[in-house]
Amino acid sequence: MNDPAAFVDEAVRRLQIEVPDRAIIAASGGIDSTTAAILAEKALGERARAIFVDTGLLRAGEVERVSEHFRAAGLRFEVVRAADSFFAALDGVADPEEKRRRVGAAFIRLFETEASRIGTDRLIQGTIAPDWIESGGALRDTIKTHHNVGGVPADSRLVLVEPLRDLYKDEVRALARHLGIPSAERQPFPGPGLAVRVNGVVTPERVRRARVANAIVEEEVERAVAGGQIPRPWQYFAVLLASRTVGVTGDNRVHGEAVSVRIVESVDAMTATAMEVPRSVLRTIAERITRELTGEVVRVLYDVTDKPPATIEWE
Ligand code: XMP
Repeated sequence: MNDPAAFVDEAVRRLQIEVPDRAIIAASGGIDSTTAAILAEKALGERARAIFVDTGLLRAGEVERVSEHFRAAGLRFEVVRAADSFFAALDGVADPEEKRRRVGAAFIRLFETEASRIGTDRLIQGTIAPDWIESGGALRDTIKTHHNVGGVPADSRLVLVEPLRDLYKDEVRALARHLGIPSAERQPFPGPGLAVRVNGVVTPERVRRARVANAIVEEEVERAVAGGQIPRPWQYFAVLLASRTVGVTGDNRVHGEAVSVRIVESVDAMTATAMEVPRSVLRTIAERITRELTGEVVRVLYDVTDKPPATIEWE
């Protein structure tokens, strides 16, 4: 994409052909789907309906933050609360790829319901080129199943419309700037949400722990950035590990959970370096997580592995 204005004209023209009547838009709050949603509004006006799903797997304050972002971008949208169906879909599942498939399928079922409510079969998504490349197209090994690609069952009656599918991230950023979309994402966040940051089985309880730990890491890293102690990392988050571990609270030994903190530098997420973070920052994070989740999380680790050989998320 050399010329954003020309891309917009062409995308609008194609959307008007691909969507004969109405469409729903899967809007996650990320830059890709917000950009796709704004293009859809340009092309279809009120015939396009943007939906933001509260999956129960979101970070602290995310519904409010995303809603504010959509308002600032001038997007009309609706929040659909669906935590129960996502937790039901994930019940008892520990395998990371299976989690991604279940979350993807739950999204598709929900979109099918919402689409039939307004009498359409068109679903507009913000899929970009690396999503389907990493999900394993022809002759490619699957690196990971992106929920917006791998979760579409063959028998779904939804017809996907993907106006950004040939673009790379830097091109989407340029397009978003051209469309006047304010940048909101402080850092990338996986489509399947905190399900990716809860290793092992996903329960509302465990997601709540991951949510609290993620919020603490975000707050303390942002404080350290504001105080000039570290440069702004590419990503900074907490992962609830699959194994249990022994700790002490008061006079009791408890069999609690362990959290790994991940703070990485990167330019495109293809490679990443574990950041050298001052011990005092890590100590505060560990102290807060074990205090604010007393008896639940008893151990905090810092992941010093680069990508490769590790990935950024733990899954
Ligand atoms: P990994 O863990 O493979 O992640 O090193 C690379 C980057 O991708 C983000 N990520 C996702 N982004 N949908 C997304 O849009 C997803 O399903 C997804 N899963 C991981 C991850 O946070 C990192 O920035």
